[in-house]
Amino acid sequence: MRILGIETSCDETGVAVYDDKHGLLSHELYSQVKLHADYGGVVPELASRDHVRKLLPLITKALTDADTHHSELDGIAYTQGPGLVGALLVGSSVARSLAYAWGLPTVGVHHMEGHLLAPMLEDNVPAFPFVALLVSGGHSMLVKVAGIGEYEVLGESIDDAAGEAFDKTAKLLGLDYPGGPLLAKLADQGEGGHYQFPRPMTDRPGLDFSFSGLKTFAANTIRDADDSEQTRANIAYAFQEAVVDTLRIKCRRALKQTGLKRLVIAGGVSANRALRQQMQAMMDDLRGEVFYPKLEFCTDNGAMIAYAGMQRLKAGQTSDLSAKATPRWPL
Ligand code: KG4
Ligand code: ZN
Repeated sequence: MRILGIETSCDETGVAVYDDKHGLLSHELYSQVKLHADYGGVVPELASRDHVRKLLPLITKALTDADTHHSELDGIAYTQGPGLVGALLVGSSVARSLAYAWGLPTVGVHHMEGHLLAPMLEDNVPAFPFVALLVSGGHSMLVKVAGIGEYEVLGESIDDAAGEAFDKTAKLLGLDYPGGPLLAKLADQGEGGHYQFPRPMTDRPGLDFSFSGLKTFAANTIRDADDSEQTRANIAYAFQEAVVDTLRIKCRRALKQTGLKRLVIAGGVSANRALRQQMQAMMDDLRGEVFYPKLEFCTDNGAMIAYAGMQRLKAGQTSDLSAKATPRWPL
């Protein structure tokens, strides 16, 4: 079976062709980062318009690179939500129109399920059940995954997502949008021991997160500090250390609570090197195993949507052609 996957939930246009026997045949990604940079964040209307411009040429390219004619496809998967409604509508309308014209079934995929299953695109695939930490710009959650579609949310952020906290703190440090990776780079120049950020909600039981306090703490720290490059790097270091440490503590708790020894980390923030190092050390200590997507599949992409769509298609779960977009959609 072969499927076309389309991702347009935010500011990346992603398209991929996935085959259940041969794996990923092609994937295309166009990032709108430059378009939104001057505004310090994603401008929804500009995002929708740019998806309109880029999507069809990317689909043509993905099919050509995969040496696939549309008659060889078994379905079209698209991100149905959550995300920006206008951006989602572009992917959903194009996916459903092509499916109608080509006589194919559609599969509306949950964006976070896409992230969750992205590590399955690698050679070393995690076996079910496992605990997944999903950390992106829009969501932070811990999920017990028993199988495809069998998700139990163990905890989630009660305010900002981890990626959002990275981006907002990066902005306070004068870095461009999206600041997460830039803050991580600045933190590489930093030194520990100068600033001590709190580890929110780790002193009480439970698996929920809260990251908005860290941003406020960063704002106060920056206000009271000198503006030398080394000081900024030290603050970035301390902030990142606090986020990573908080995520590590909560993951350890989730593994203990579920009795599981496999941990999957996915979503944009899973590209963070300090986070990967800490999680690896913890899982070595617990004699467990940690899995991540390849760096390019940590952030939004079409490959994860094609993969998740394939699993749904194989289970006979297709969507109605009248399904539009679901901007707010719990996992
Ligand atoms: O999953 P994603 O591409 O989009 C959403 O679904 O939100 O995640 C983007 C988020 C942004 O907040 C970005 O700053 C963050 O992931 N991010 C990082 C790193 N790379 C991306 N945060 C920290 N360190 C990184 N290396
Ligand atoms: Zn995402």
